[in-house]
Amino acid sequence: MTNFEFQNPVKVLFGKGQIENIANEIPKETKVLVLYGGGSIKNNGIYAQVMNALSNHTVFEYGGIPANPEYEVLMGAHRLIKKENIEFLLAVGGGSVIDGTKFLSGAATFNGIDPWQILAEGIPTVKGMPFGTVLTLPATGSEMNSGAVITKKVTQEKRVMGGKGLFPQFSVLDPNVVKSIPVRQLQNGVIDAYVHVLEQYLTYSHPAKLQDRIAEGILQTLIEVGPDIVKNPSNYELAANFMWSCTMALNGLIQKGVPTDWATHMIGHELTALHGIDHARTLAIIGPHLYQHQFENKKEKLAQYGHRVWGLSNSSTEETAKEALTKTIEFYHLMGMKTKLSENTDNFDATSKIVFDRFEERGWKELGENNAIGPKEAKEIVELSH
Ligand code: NZQ
Ligand code: ZN
Repeated sequence: MTNFEFQNPVKVLFGKGQIENIANEIPKETKVLVLYGGGSIKNNGIYAQVMNALSNHTVFEYGGIPANPEYEVLMGAHRLIKKENIEFLLAVGGGSVIDGTKFLSGAATFNGIDPWQILAEGIPTVKGMPFGTVLTLPATGSEMNSGAVITKKVTQEKRVMGGKGLFPQFSVLDPNVVKSIPVRQLQNGVIDAYVHVLEQYLTYSHPAKLQDRIAEGILQTLIEVGPDIVKNPSNYELAANFMWSCTMALNGLIQKGVPTDWATHMIGHELTALHGIDHARTLAIIGPHLYQHQFENKKEKLAQYGHRVWGLSNSSTEETAKEALTKTIEFYHLMGMKTKLSENTDNFDATSKIVFDRFEERGWKELGENNAIGPKEAKEIVELSH
């Protein structure tokens, strides 16, 4: 096990009725900006619950943050924060609203000319404006981590940011919010969380046994509840298990002391930036083809995953690894994913070349647990996915 530091300061308020407790988490005298997306919270009652809880606070609001939150839209909120001297941000939404709020938290304390520099130059946010979250869509884990992904529409770029100043102060996880989530987004949530675990698990064999067992436990739980939650989103216990699995998949715990990959995500972001494909669906396209491309490097771990998660019996390492890959693709299909790029967009001829050029420009030569994925390999993986 490699050395690590672990500090996750997020206070989680999990369960029924927890939204009403947010008032206790935000000092009364602060000016709060409530941020949300395209309006789902106004139809499912979450907006009313939040506003009710904050009835004794000074509240401003900013809606309209789109899926794959856009810098251009967020800059409107940034101006409002400056104009009204906002002191606390409250994200009410899924990963997009939470990530957008993290961008605003970092932008509020940034001294440079344009907050996009935080993403373009990879500047970590050490201290941001304090914020909390009310999660409405289990998927990304953003509610309990310090990362964010922001899109610049004008250049079709999707870039990552982070830093220890970007942990939420608190996050409300009320499984009742799952009831109103559309099927497509439920499917996305299960697969995003599943791939988060694989990015931190499906690497090479290492001696950190507990991290592996926790990762396998999250994968097995998602396999168990994923197909059912899509059919029964009102089932509280299913929703609770789904929600906590998504949070645990990316709150930093399972990546400590072990190698991690993340190349599926970095290539996937380009597919969203170029074609607008939902985040989770890009992972279902790229992941299996990346495992195929990196088969020699990953086969030991693929076989362990096949045995322990899919219960495959003892054939050779190669055979079990291949079967595990087939099981994974079948699960993605069961969860409504289409695992080929051509099934998700018609306009993919130039994609692999653009991915190659962007990886080159950014100097990304050594992605993946073996530093084996650079521009050429990323291009080959995209081509395999056609
Ligand atoms: O905008 P509204 O009207 O709220 O509708 C949203 C949106 O259309 C809807 N929705 C959310 N909660 C709902 C609901 N509809 C009905 N009932 C509810 N309770 O769902 C749609 C999608 O929402 P979005 O927030 O975009 O989805 P998700 O949570 O999957 O977030 C995706 C974003 O997170 C980034 C992705 O790249 C993408 O930009 N990620 C963030 C990560 C992180 N910060 O750690 C890690 C991930 O790997 C990922 O990259
Ligand atoms: Zn993801």
